[in-house]
Amino acid sequence: MRETIQRAAKDLTNAKTAVALTGAGISVESGIPPFRGKGGVWEKIDPMEYATIDAFMRDPAKVWNVLIKEMKEIIDRAEPNEGHKGLARLAEMGILTTVITQNVDGLHQAAGNEDVIEFHGNFAWHRCMDCDASIETPSIDLSRIPPRCGCGGIYRPEVIFFGEMIPPEALTRSQQLSAQCDVMLVVGTSATVQPAAYMPVIAKRSGAKVIEINPEASPLTATVSDYLVKGPAGKAMSGIIAELERLRVS
Ligand code: OAD
Repeated sequence: MRETIQRAAKDLTNAKTAVALTGAGISVESGIPPFRGKGGVWEKIDPMEYATIDAFMRDPAKVWNVLIKEMKEIIDRAEPNEGHKGLARLAEMGILTTVITQNVDGLHQAAGNEDVIEFHGNFAWHRCMDCDASIETPSIDLSRIPPRCGCGGIYRPEVIFFGEMIPPEALTRSQQLSAQCDVMLVVGTSATVQPAAYMPVIAKRSGAKVIEINPEASPLTATVSDYLVKGPAGKAMSGIIAELERLRVS
């Protein structure tokens, strides 16, 4: 990992514009389980039964009980880790402009990144399905499931269920930034869900270096990525930041 960390720090030093694409893996060290692989959410529950918009509309109480309630408890407790903090430091150093994330946990903003494109929404807010009123997630009363707004409508999280559209402005901006950056950091994603997984392909085709950070190879590793920093995001990002700071003073 040491050699790829040094290589990543060098590439980032030479970059005019870097952007990051992140997935569930960057929040694993904050105690949030990933979706796929060992200990993943989809290992315990079937996404087709609990994470599609049709499943939610059919039986909101079931989806609230099995998926949303637990997500709320886990996300309420989570704090940014060294992976999120490393990306915030890269922005502070003027290297990273934007984080494109598939995560809904808000941890990039909590770490200090100001430009975050949320592909799959943000769990910090819920919306009444009848009157459209918004409520901050911690204020929701869970004594009745599904929780309801004063008007009687059911609350849903401001996240994208399978079968729903990615917010068009998030998609358009991500495509533009992917085409313009000269380094893309791909951190903690299995790169299996489209259209997010296509952003590194756009970056590569437009001439950017694609650097993956992940303890495992993904479908991008052998086809799109220039190299893989093989390890957990926290360790890899703190190594890269330490190396960048060393390069800056020497
Ligand atoms: P996945 O759960 O599919 O993949 C998590 C990735 O993180 C895997 O490649 C792991 O190897 C890697 N990983 C595990 N621990 C890590 C660590 N400590 N540091 C870095 N990487 C680590 O998550 P996503 O790719 O984000 O969509 O999944 C994409 C989408 O699928 C999600 O946004 C969600 C899901 O279904 C919706 O809900 C719409």
